[in-house]
Amino acid sequence: MERLPGFRDFYPEPLPDRDAWSADLRHHIFAAWRNTARRYGFREYDGPPLEPLDLYTVKSGAEIVGQLYHFTDKGGRDVALRPEMTPTLARMAAAHDRHYRKPLKWFAIPQLFRYERQQKGRLREHFQFNADLIGEADPAGDAELIALLIDSLRALGLTADDFVVRLSSRNAWQAFFEQHARPGATPYDFYQAIDKLERDPPEATQARLDAVGIPLDAVRHFIDSGQPTPELARILAELGARGLAPFVRVDYGVIRGLAYYTGPVFEAFDRHGKFRALAGGGRYDDLIKRLSNGRVDLPALGFGMGDVVLAELLKDRRLRPDRFAQLDAFLLIEDESLRPDSLQLLQTLREAGLAVDYPLVAAKSDKQFKRALDLGTVHTVRLERTPEGQVHARVKHLASRSELVSPLAEVARHLRSEPAAPAPAPASPAA
Ligand code: HAM
Repeated sequence: MERLPGFRDFYPEPLPDRDAWSADLRHHIFAAWRNTARRYGFREYDGPPLEPLDLYTVKSGAEIVGQLYHFTDKGGRDVALRPEMTPTLARMAAAHDRHYRKPLKWFAIPQLFRYERQQKGRLREHFQFNADLIGEADPAGDAELIALLIDSLRALGLTADDFVVRLSSRNAWQAFFEQHARPGATPYDFYQAIDKLERDPPEATQARLDAVGIPLDAVRHFIDSGQPTPELARILAELGARGLAPFVRVDYGVIRGLAYYTGPVFEAFDRHGKFRALAGGGRYDDLIKRLSNGRVDLPALGFGMGDVVLAELLKDRRLRPDRFAQLDAFLLIEDESLRPDSLQLLQTLREAGLAVDYPLVAAKSDKQFKRALDLGTVHTVRLERTPEGQVHARVKHLASRSELVSPLAEVARHLRSEPAAPAPAPASPAA
């Protein structure tokens, strides 16, 4: 049985082939996201992967609705797999708005589903780091969120030479639209044309723009001017004060495809323009009000960062770790008469919180060692019996190759102090 196109299997390292997706790399990325969110004071939330279809058809805009996985469930409800997290978050925030002090700083790492035309960097499921700030209208909130976006990429080793956040404004485009569009034209059609400007051939863009009565030249001129609005200038100043200016630039070529954005919007791209967007977001000050039928009115903004393009970029920049240490130690049992002592040590080490594995059944030494390497262990531990009948442990730190002999009670301490002190190992009395 094959898996569905556009879906992924995640294997533990070492991977079966070059194109396989790594569960360890995924964990590495999630850990960087979670840790950066924690450093910024964001709290984790989650919601259901299956939602009422209406949640998306009403607010997200035609593009995402065309990509929905939806069906009628056995109770006759029209439901959809979530294609994005923002409507769920808006619903959750509106449901308990009085319970939490504002602003809310919340994050989640949902798996999302979109029936997309498959292309590089776009699959039919992906994981997305979502960070949102709810209840703050000041551009300070936008700066805080963009700083979080930048730092979550920096946490993975990426620098200002690797990526840039292109900052734009729906307000600026709205003003442009009102000035240039033919009466009766709808801004959403115009936003779609701008959103696809870089991907579509000029004739296609011109045709879309003709529908709203705006010449392509006027659009190009506006993008080239790149003058920050006062709101964008505030955001840039706050990012500059944090030393993050090299990571951002004003770029009106960005407008965002989703319908609900209202103010500043942004997208992060790799500097060489080799990949599709790494992340995108912006303000959506009306969405919570619309989803709660006017009951709760809270300004909000956020971004989503996908794992697919990010993993490709990390590989491209050689920032994908090639070893994922899973184990603190692998306990080699080369002398079966030492198995009971080994099991006792194994239990003690695990109870002390260390990650330790061992051969379940008797196996040749080289097989055991290969398995230890496959599992990415930091140390090996082997018990030895002295001629006097005492049992001690030989602890080896694989990366530095330093080795020491230790009483059993001290092994946990040695495994924690990295690398094991390069004390000269006495010739093994058991050898
Ligand atoms: P989005 O631009 O649709 O925004 O997605 C954000 C990021 O998710 C993209 O930049 C990309 O990295 C990743 N992504 C999207 N679709 C796919 C796909 N089919 N395959 C792989 N990766 C993908 C949103 O979803 C907004 N809800 C973000 C947001 C949060 N805005 C405010 N808060």
